[in-house]
Amino acid sequence: MKSNQPDIRQTGLHPDFWYPLARSASLKKGKMLSVSFAGEVIVLARKKDGDVFALEDRCAHRQIPLSMGVVEGNRLKCGYHAWEYEDTGRVAKIPYLGKDSPAPPRCIRNYPCKEAYDHIFVYTGDPKKLEHISFPELPVWHRTDFKTMYFEREVGCHYSFMHENLMDMNHQFLHRRLLGGLKPTLIEYCKGKSWIEARYKFESGGKRRIGADFLMDGSKKGTDSDDEDIMTIRTDYPYQSLTLQRSGDEEPALHLWSVYIPVTLDQRIHKSFGMLMIKKPPIPGLIYLFWPFMRWFTERVFSEDRMAVMAEQQAYDRQGGDWNNEVFPLILDLRSVLIRNGIPLDKTD
Ligand code: FES
Ligand SMILES: [Fe+2]
Repeated sequence: MKSNQPDIRQTGLHPDFWYPLARSASLKKGKMLSVSFAGEVIVLARKKDGDVFALEDRCAHRQIPLSMGVVEGNRLKCGYHAWEYEDTGRVAKIPYLGKDSPAPPRCIRNYPCKEAYDHIFVYTGDPKKLEHISFPELPVWHRTDFKTMYFEREVGCHYSFMHENLMDMNHQFLHRRLLGGLKPTLIEYCKGKSWIEARYKFESGGKRRIGADFLMDGSKKGTDSDDEDIMTIRTDYPYQSLTLQRSGDEEPALHLWSVYIPVTLDQRIHKSFGMLMIKKPPIPGLIYLFWPFMRWFTERVFSEDRMAVMAEQQAYDRQGGDWNNEVFPLILDLRSVLIRNGIPLDKTD
């Protein structure tokens, strides 16, 4: 279905948000980590006291990555001629010039940076807008009756394919070996300028695979309440979430929160970050017993999705444009949200 809308795959993710760019555990004290947002290289550094800061990954002298250097105290030292940088990005010392030499008025970009939910979040956008940008709220993450499974994976496709994949539950045939005969029915959806939310009813047809039961709630497998599962999927630009509400339960059995960070300038590769918060079954410790299986099962589902979205990107590249004949109104509206809130790729550099 051709439309007059701009090409969604040529729409960049808007930088004016807080994005997770790494897991906290991947950055040890006194170390650096080079990450990327849409072709912009950023060095994350952890001081000895544990605080994290983020700078352009570029020495102002001869442009080599600062991540090739070392952390010393509260400063970064370039690995080439040892220029020293404060956490603000200011060049504090050029060791081979005397004290009286005029310091070059140089600095590199500093990015606001916060640790939350076991991730390092960076604000990649316009500093003047920062005070109006809200930080993602994940109250369930703090609850002790939920356990969180983390995902971090580079995937060779534009981030929009991920939003479409999760929102369009009509692709359960892709997961038929793992999920059995799950039948989703869209009940309703609603939308705003920067968000869209869909509610699906899931029927198992009595053939749901055991993996789906464990993931949805290990304590309830095989009950008749399967027929009442409600799944809510929401793109709240630029983030996405999914909750599963089982019949008879007061609150959702699981929450997924995810975001897809473009890695390269052309945004044809992204890194998915996800947190799947699963309600612990009433039997203490049971979740730890099943956790490796749940992990394996979820990875399998994601790997099937990954295979499909990467094949979509390859088709786009081969065909030189978006030939998709999208027919589902929900997904057409989702595209509008992503385009309206994004930024044309040729204007991002
Ligand atoms: S290139 Fe960094 S100090 Fe020379
Ligand atoms: Fe899927």
